[in-house]
Amino acid sequence: MSNAQLYDTIGATYTVTRRTEPRIAAQVWAALGDARTVVNVGAGTGSYEPTDRDVTAVEPSALMRAQRPPGAARCVAAAAESLPFEDQSFDAAMAFATIHHWRDPIAGLREMRRVARRVVVFTHDTSEAGWLHRFWFTRDYLPEAADLLVGRPSLDELAGAIGARTEPVLIPWDCADGFFEAYWRRPEAYLDENVRRGVSVLARLGPDVEQRAVRNLREDLASGRWAERNRDLVDLDAAELGLRLLIA
Ligand SMILES: C[S@@+](CC[C@H](N)C(=O)[O-])C[C@H]1O[C@@H](n2cnc3c(N)ncnc32)[C@H](O)[C@@H]1O
Repeated sequence: MSNAQLYDTIGATYTVTRRTEPRIAAQVWAALGDARTVVNVGAGTGSYEPTDRDVTAVEPSALMRAQRPPGAARCVAAAAESLPFEDQSFDAAMAFATIHHWRDPIAGLREMRRVARRVVVFTHDTSEAGWLHRFWFTRDYLPEAADLLVGRPSLDELAGAIGARTEPVLIPWDCADGFFEAYWRRPEAYLDENVRRGVSVLARLGPDVEQRAVRNLREDLASGRWAERNRDLVDLDAAELGLRLLIA
């Protein structure tokens, strides 16, 4: 299944839990600098699109395009690897929580670089020491998540492809956008089917892995094991879980 097809399958309930987190949006918009024209690649339902700039969205999934709110930026049906725009058509290109779905992320980033003078991408540091081991859900309940990284470019390779610098993105404890890591201090949330439906990692690992992880988490929450293992998290207002902006 291609990744556009993945979202044509799992995207129907996206807006139940997925929306702009204002504190992360502020960091993304600051990185866009004074760009007036912005292309948002892998735009989905329009989260993180700045309303004070001239935005063009690009989104391959018809189901995701259909859920863009009335008045959202115009949206072109296309994929990152082949953007239907002339060189340097935009002041900036942005991509949020999408490049891990692209068939060829390096090609997509080069396309963003080709069509825009500035590039801002929100993604993961997928190194062993990064995302997999920093977040308790992957570390303690979903070791299979490592399989999703096989053959994927490292953060350094992604950054190198477009000459980007990286900037950490801290996840607030009450993050409004329900992406995978969002509930790091609210572990009970992962017991909620609606929350899990907004997380593509779980769809990609399949129902057996998901059910086992939920079962184990439920037991550890009831026994106090989760609280004991994650004592250091309860006083944090924001966590560094390996999420990054690439800025070029
Ligand atoms: C997790 S959603 C993120 C959507 C939006 N950026 C947000 O933050 O809510 C990932 C999106 O990437 C899109 N996608 C998958 N493959 C793509 C590709 N090759 N090029 C562009 N977008 C792609 C999916 O259809 C989906 O809408």
